[in-house]
Amino acid sequence: MTLSSLSPTEAAQSLFTNSTILAPMVRASTTPLRTLALHHGATLTYTEELIDRSIFPAERIVNSELGTIDYRVPIAHYPAKVQRRMMADGDNPDLCAGAVLLRIDPVLERDRLIYQVGTGEAGLAMQAVERVVRDVAGVDVNMGCPKKFSVGGGMGSALLSDPKRACDIISTLRRNISKPVSAKIRLLHPTDPRPTLDFVRSLINAGANAITIHGRIVGDESQTNARWDTLVEVVKHLKATESGVPIIVNGDLYTHADIREMRRRTGCDGVMLARPALYNMGLFRNNEEKAEGVKNEDEGGPNHHEEEEEKEEIPLSHFQTSNHSGYYGYTSPLLMSRTTMIQEYIANCVRYRTHSKNAKYVVCEMINARRAPTSRVPFLDMKLDGGQTIASVCQCRSLEDLVKLWDVRWTIPLPSAAASTDG
Ligand code: FNR
Repeated sequence: MTLSSLSPTEAAQSLFTNSTILAPMVRASTTPLRTLALHHGATLTYTEELIDRSIFPAERIVNSELGTIDYRVPIAHYPAKVQRRMMADGDNPDLCAGAVLLRIDPVLERDRLIYQVGTGEAGLAMQAVERVVRDVAGVDVNMGCPKKFSVGGGMGSALLSDPKRACDIISTLRRNISKPVSAKIRLLHPTDPRPTLDFVRSLINAGANAITIHGRIVGDESQTNARWDTLVEVVKHLKATESGVPIIVNGDLYTHADIREMRRRTGCDGVMLARPALYNMGLFRNNEEKAEGVKNEDEGGPNHHEEEEEKEEIPLSHFQTSNHSGYYGYTSPLLMSRTTMIQEYIANCVRYRTHSKNAKYVVCEMINARRAPTSRVPFLDMKLDGGQTIASVCQCRSLEDLVKLWDVRWTIPLPSAAASTDG
């Protein structure tokens, strides 16, 4: 049965039950990272937040060369100064076809991609969602971003203090699209679960098909620990009383033990990883069944062959090219070598023609964890195989420079090349 033949409620069950999800991250959760996460076992990924109005001028283009669907904004849409800067940027050869706002790999991302919209108004949200809904499995509304830009526009966490508007957005989307509609929120109170419970219940009554809860409140620094105790209380209550609506937990799930503990303590339907995924894609290899066989993740569990067999259904054969299996980068079955992860990410950036500035940003995040509570992040002191540093990444001027710096020796064939090789 295909996802599109299911009701939004059934589709949400199928997408979110027992899920391990790559979170929306501005500038990071684009095609290369999303497909890499799927390759390593993520069951679902989110786009970066795309603000409703930013989608309006975008044209949907089938990119037959890359085998992708692109949402491109014609450069004439940008102010003259920005246009000049874009045109002077030699790393953007196909710019005349428009700046890529969203690039989707319809083969790898089919039924596994959620579009996250930044919005403060039901009508605008609906217009934005209508543009992209045919290419995604569901739609999520960002109700957690505390940044001035979002809150000033009535978006993100501004919606936490305006439940009427938040519910209006959800119910409008629910009435008008036939795919799951979800929301990603923060805790509303540091210790008292009730305000969060009330808010979530109102969203569910408005028609939300799934809710993700990030265990911080507005005002919490990203470096301070997530408020797991309050989060556990909230999710436990919801699972006991709101049966049927998947609840996803997010915040500081840095190890397989964290993920198992959170699943056990809350009974949540899924977990969502943002920064932890940037440091160890091996976290996506976790789920209840796999975890049972692993006594001590640092000492290793099942051998690589067994793991590969378990992963058979992940359709990322594009990584199995001549000199890279995509799996031997694991120092244990669940802890990935960061060097290999970054190499894979860069190979994906080449595959999807990602802008080098974007690629550099993500690689820097992968190597220094500057926004994370460092006491909780394991493995970051592990040496990078080639001795690369933030400074050497910053000196790169193109994807080719990154490829050289990280000694990326494999390429990922484009769909047409893959098809001719197979044939
Ligand atoms: C984020 N986060 C975020 N959240 C969201 O709803 N939409 C977004 O576009 C972004 N963008 C974003 C960018 C970057 C670089 C970071 C680090 C974070 C928040 C993110 O999804 C998540 O809720 C928090 O990072 C907490 O989860 P982790 O990192 O502890 O797994």
